Amino acid sequence: MTSPILQKAALLGCLTFNVLPAFADPAAVFTDACGACHGAAGEGIPGFAPKLDRPAFWQAMGDDAPRYLGGVIVSGLAGRIVADGGQTFVGVSMPNQAYLDDEEITMIADHILSSFADSDQTLSADTLAALRADPPSHADLLAMRQSEE
Ligand code: HEC
Repeated sequence: MTSPILQKAALLGCLTFNVLPAFADPAAVFTDACGACHGAAGEGIPGFAPKLDRPAFWQAMGDDAPRYLGGVIVSGLAGRIVADGGQTFVGVSMPNQAYLDDEEITMIADHILSSFADSDQTLSADTLAALRADPPSHADLLAMRQSEE
């Protein structure tokens, strides 16, 4: 028979396990998944991958910002975009990052929204589930995006 102490230890083990991901640092998760191309601080690489730290861009998208961001992560992005003071990005496509689990994606999206968009918006579990179920096409994403900056 399992002693109450062992049962408590097992319960505590489960709780600790469930709580652990909350300690993961969103900035570090962003750097791991996105930093090689977009820079650890979202500063971008000119001519290769756009800067993501552009509050005016994100704020101009209003309520669409979390859905656009989640859509780019789930679908990737291809096509000509103009970003960050008229720089054109063309020829390099962003591969989709759908291999990330839901928790990693929401952590990354919320980090971008708070740190690079100065916004209190978040990517909800429902929006992410809808994007996973029906990933937006590149044309959908480009239509959602502000074309001028
Ligand atoms: C292999 C390099 C690479 C990786 C890794 C990568 N991206 Fe990108 N990303 C790009 C490129 C290149 C573009 C521009 C694509 C285009 O011109 O259509 C882009 C575009 C974007 C855009 C659109 C910006 C705009 O101005 O509309 C967002 C948002 C974005 N990436 C977020 C992310 C996030 C979040 C991650 C990590 C989960 C990530 N990217 C990982 C290369 C990358």
